[in-house]
Amino acid sequence: MSRADLVVVANRLPVDRVVSEGGESWRRSPGGLVTALEPVMRKPDRAWVGWAGQPDLDIAPFDFEGARLVPVALSASEIEQYYEGFANGTIWPLYHDVIAAPLYKRRWWEVYVQVNRRFAQAAADVVEQGGVVWVQDYQLQLVPKMLRELRPDITIGYFHHIPFPAYGLYSQLPWRRQVLEGLLGADVIGFQRQADAGNFQRSVRRVLRYTTRSSEVVVPSAEGEPRVAIAKAYPISIDADAFIRLAQDPDVQARATEIREQLGSPKTILLGVDRLDYTKGIRHRLKAFGELLEDGRLSVGDATLVQVASPSRQRVDAYAELRDEIELTVGRINGDYDTMHHTAIRYLHQGFPREEMVALYLAADVMLVTALRDGMNLVAKEYVASRIDNSGVLLLSEFAGAADELTSALLVNPHDIDGMKDLIMRAVEMSPGEQSRRMRALRRRVLDHDVEDWSQDFLTDIEKVRRVRRGA
Ligand code: F6P
Repeated sequence: MSRADLVVVANRLPVDRVVSEGGESWRRSPGGLVTALEPVMRKPDRAWVGWAGQPDLDIAPFDFEGARLVPVALSASEIEQYYEGFANGTIWPLYHDVIAAPLYKRRWWEVYVQVNRRFAQAAADVVEQGGVVWVQDYQLQLVPKMLRELRPDITIGYFHHIPFPAYGLYSQLPWRRQVLEGLLGADVIGFQRQADAGNFQRSVRRVLRYTTRSSEVVVPSAEGEPRVAIAKAYPISIDADAFIRLAQDPDVQARATEIREQLGSPKTILLGVDRLDYTKGIRHRLKAFGELLEDGRLSVGDATLVQVASPSRQRVDAYAELRDEIELTVGRINGDYDTMHHTAIRYLHQGFPREEMVALYLAADVMLVTALRDGMNLVAKEYVASRIDNSGVLLLSEFAGAADELTSALLVNPHDIDGMKDLIMRAVEMSPGEQSRRMRALRRRVLDHDVEDWSQDFLTDIEKVRRVRRGA
């Protein structure tokens, strides 16, 4: 098998398997991670190691759009215990401030170790001598250390897409030491916000007793000289130009007009776009909107909320319960307030292609991002990039990573329902002048720092380490 100079390792491959009468084919998957790494993968000599998204698929490496894809096979029980279990039933809720209760199951941990080892081995087999492996996200926190043991010649990066919790929460994890050691196998460890990097460093000091200074962690080595790992923030972004191009497309603009008409031409369209996840604050948002209707501060003729909630992790109990709760709430609010012409909430438990999403962004006067905790939240950046005429209002949770950058949004504490109601009214009533002033500042930030800058910043730091190692 040919080897690659840069290998991305992520839980999922960047493609979805499509089986039709004509046989098996692969289609590029829509997610943010795939878009984020697109500029990196476009270059020659790249490989991507990941799971093909279905159980027991034992597929040989293959080429897709110029890159080598290396599938990692997972059995149904590994998916249950590594992905649904440890990744999404333990780490995900713990790292999102225990919004849902994390479960600490020893069997899940064992399978997480076993699966991380498989990913590490697959990456070790495909990276060339002195190459780079870039590990993505919380599903694979042990891979950096495992890789370093397998391939001491390579340079290793890790990017953490979700929050890293405060030590008081992190310390609950029965395997807190192993996870930190796993991450510290990397030469560069990237986080979304400075606060995440700070939380990580504090845990490293408290649990491992290692020294940290500024963005450096001193990692002792049994063989001799200690090593320095970089741990700092590299806020991820979007391909802003791609959103601008779509927003300028007359077909997309016509679709936005059509959406407004199909909703009964309300004065204001409010929009929420999320994976159906308890971290996203969808229930809090529905509560605030429902109360505004109840209080008579809004009516269905004035305002419709479009809520796109794309299906996610449906076999994990907390997600199935959340879906039931949300659908009950939507049904109640619509039952109480819908008329023959207008609906209170147009709820869509579906995913949509990017064209349709941009049409929705163009149709929406107010974008509601009310996450209780979120690593970054790229929807906020997508909305801003799409508002090419500088109109529209972004209401953004203080607890989303994007709030560090998008300071001209209306920042909201989603736990404060009365505060959120007042801010929704402020957004609905905001003058065109204020909208434009705020939106210009927001767009400047998103356009100045797009996803290509993100990957370049990270890989530049990786290259510095690689050069020093080569010199040594
Ligand atoms: O950003 C968090 C994340 O888990 C990514 O790693 C992943 O690409 C995305 O959310 C979707 O999650 P899942 O792969 O569990 O559907």
